[in-house]
Amino acid sequence: MAVLPALQRTGIGSSLVRRGLADARDLGHGVVIVVGHPGYYARFGFVPAEPLGIRAPFEVSSPAFMALELRPDALRGVRGEVRYPPEFADVEGSPQ
Ligand SMILES: CC(C)(COP(=O)(O)OP(=O)(O)OC[C@H]1O[C@@H](n2cnc3c(N)ncnc32)[C@H](O)[C@@H]1OP(=O)(O)O)[C@@H](O)C(=O)NCCC(=O)NCCS
Repeated sequence: MAVLPALQRTGIGSSLVRRGLADARDLGHGVVIVVGHPGYYARFGFVPAEPLGIRAPFEVSSPAFMALELRPDALRGVRGEVRYPPEFADVEGSPQ
């Protein structure tokens, strides 16, 4: 996610995240995983994923790898390595 520098800090990023999370919830998804700035995503409820037993399939700074439950207890008993959809491998600069 990125907002043009001249338009940053005007609420666009937060609106995009909140709308994206609401849409994901409406679509029935239970969990969202992100790699991003911990100080930014914490405000939406994201927490570090590794202490929950959820690992990234690539090298990443641990605090930057975060998870959010869209449904209460969606991560209860869930452990292991995240499997990304194949489209991620085609993204330029993708860590995979
Ligand atoms: C991160 C980004 C998408 C945020 O978008 P935005 O429209 O500026 O965000 P908002 O206006 O909704 O929120 C601004 C708040 O986020 C905070 N923030 C912005 N970038 C941050 C960062 N890297 N770490 C922590 N907080 C950050 C601001 O301090 C501000 O805090 P405040 O509300 O307490 O004043 C934008 O700064 C950006 O495009 N950055 C460059 C690309 C990037 O780093 N993308 C993230 C990849 S995960």
